[in-house]
Amino acid sequence: MSSNPLFKSHTGAEYFKRITALELNRRVRSAYQDLVLRIAPAGAALFDFGAGPGIDARFFAERGFTVDAYDVDPKMCEFFAAHCRTFIDSGRITLDCAGYAEFLAGKNSGAERRIDLIISNFAPLNQVDDLPALFAKFHALTGPQGKALVSVLNPYFIGDMKTRWWWRNVPRLWRDGHFFVAGGQAPAHTRWRLADFGALSSPYFRLARVYRGLPPTRKQHSKGVDLRRGYGGAWLHVATSQFMFLLFEKRD
Ligand SMILES: C[S@@+](CC[C@H](N)C(=O)[O-])C[C@H]1O[C@@H](n2cnc3c(N)ncnc32)[C@H](O)[C@@H]1O
Repeated sequence: MSSNPLFKSHTGAEYFKRITALELNRRVRSAYQDLVLRIAPAGAALFDFGAGPGIDARFFAERGFTVDAYDVDPKMCEFFAAHCRTFIDSGRITLDCAGYAEFLAGKNSGAERRIDLIISNFAPLNQVDDLPALFAKFHALTGPQGKALVSVLNPYFIGDMKTRWWWRNVPRLWRDGHFFVAGGQAPAHTRWRLADFGALSSPYFRLARVYRGLPPTRKQHSKGVDLRRGYGGAWLHVATSQFMFLLFEKRD
């Protein structure tokens, strides 16, 4: 767990250096970016929640998308502003660094566009306590037929099953649908089951599909599993991935 920079409390330039250095993280990012390109129509309006240093925002702006971005961490925002300077100056990217309560209340939000797709890579949603409030905000930001594609930590990742801390948390996962991992080595975060993401996003979104966080080979993309008729067996599809990509469809 400690070899992954995601699990240390690095931020800003240090986070950027570490997240881009590891081949595995570059592959996970590339799988997520490829999926966004498959789902979002050309030139779509994206909203990047928990945008961090702006790696994805810049990647999508370079490919003709508009990106409104939000992050709560000042050092991430500082790095983002420098990394995406040209696109911020041209208006293709906006950056909101307001406090979280202010963001939820809608003040100082840069997202005046009607968003087609919310993106959120490398697990920002695992660091949010009140997911229904966040999904209500996503609902308000998106236009008709809006979607959200979020990368979250997989609570059933077989790599974690070798560890004692995972087995200590299994009873909570089954009883409560999630377990909390305290800060320290890692930023404090919660790992949720698929069914609980589905329940917490309703009545704003329908959890439609889950994709592996890493395709088995570079050429073979995960087609994902349809969740609209239930969650049974979907965990087998994602078991070998530390991350899972969840596609939510907006309810009217
Ligand atoms: C692991 S980083 C991922 C950053 C970026 N999305 C990426 O792909 O590299 C998680 C990010 O979520 C942000 N975050 C955590 N809680 C947040 C909140 N309540 N609102 C907005 N951003 C949040 C953190 O500041 C951090 O930048």
